[in-house]
Amino acid sequence: MSVVIALANQKGGVGKTTTTVSLAAALAARGLRILVVDADPQANATSAVGATKDDEGGLYEALVDERPLDDAVRATNIDGLSILPTTPALAGAEVELVSVMAREFRMKRALDALRPRFDLILVDCPPSLGLLTVNALAACDEVIIPVQCEYFALEGLSHLSHTIELVQRNLNPRLVIRGVVLTMFDARTNLSREVESEVRSHFPNTFNAVIPRSVRLAEAPSHGEPITVFDPTSTGARAYFDLGDELIAALRARDLIPASIAPSTALPAVVASTPTAVATVPATSHEVATIPQTPRDIVSQPQEQTHGA
Ligand SMILES: Nc1ncnc2c1ncn2[C@@H]1O[C@H](COP(=O)(O)OP(=O)(O)OP(=O)(O)O)[C@@H](O)[C@H]1O
Ligand SMILES: [Mg+2]
Repeated sequence: MSVVIALANQKGGVGKTTTTVSLAAALAARGLRILVVDADPQANATSAVGATKDDEGGLYEALVDERPLDDAVRATNIDGLSILPTTPALAGAEVELVSVMAREFRMKRALDALRPRFDLILVDCPPSLGLLTVNALAACDEVIIPVQCEYFALEGLSHLSHTIELVQRNLNPRLVIRGVVLTMFDARTNLSREVESEVRSHFPNTFNAVIPRSVRLAEAPSHGEPITVFDPTSTGARAYFDLGDELIAALRARDLIPASIAPSTALPAVVASTPTAVATVPATSHEVATIPQTPRDIVSQPQEQTHGA
């Protein structure tokens, strides 16, 4: 019994890595055995938990050479939290896998072998819908979509929804969209509230927990510590504990995590969308107009990164 969850959004700088690492640490604090898989060649999740980027052997070797990942998993300073670190070499995997048979399933094979060791595996995806993200979507049971509370929040989400739909249809029929997480919410602005209501109307399975914009969250990675350790009483840490508890409640409702793990407060379960009920968002003029139709075309070109924070 274990769950693999990918955190994906091809838009850059929306809080994927911050959410992966902070949520992982919050869940580890509740007693779950958590593995963070750094599937982004930027290796931000690796450094955010205090691991080094230059370790030999990791996701790149697993994807390209099909080397087992057992020795690549590292413990962190946080009880219950392990990391599968990566290096910038992972960027080469996108190119090297292009001509490989069943190239979309390399990560699935590698991570399936690790499932018995963990209750939950969180995969931090890069800001693109390339082969690494498609591999993560093919490998996972559920996907969480971090969305930044800013003007173009919904831009690109229809493209992401279509990609998820194509993966469900062609590679991973079990894939469930667990929910959208609103990040960098600024309670002082009307814009944040407007974005929140718009996202909730398009994605009813948006988590109740909303992550505030917080300087402490931005500072934590430079100390190599998740926010739950760096400043456990900050608003950012509390929001990620709430998000973790909401996720625990939802996963327990599906019998996906041990009954002995209990959220600190009883929260309502998030209703996950089914593979046939993918939320769709009207395309905007900024979006890619053509939607890929075949499995081979699921992999699309990396989007321009828009670091908004
Ligand atoms: N809630 C927050 N409040 C303030 N700053 C934040 C918050 N969440 C993330 N940040 C900061 O915003 C920047 C982008 O966040 P993060 O790296 O988590 O996004 P990402 O989606 O993983 O980016 P990329 O697409 O490049 O992988 C980082 O500098 C991070 O510290
Ligand atoms: Mg990132």
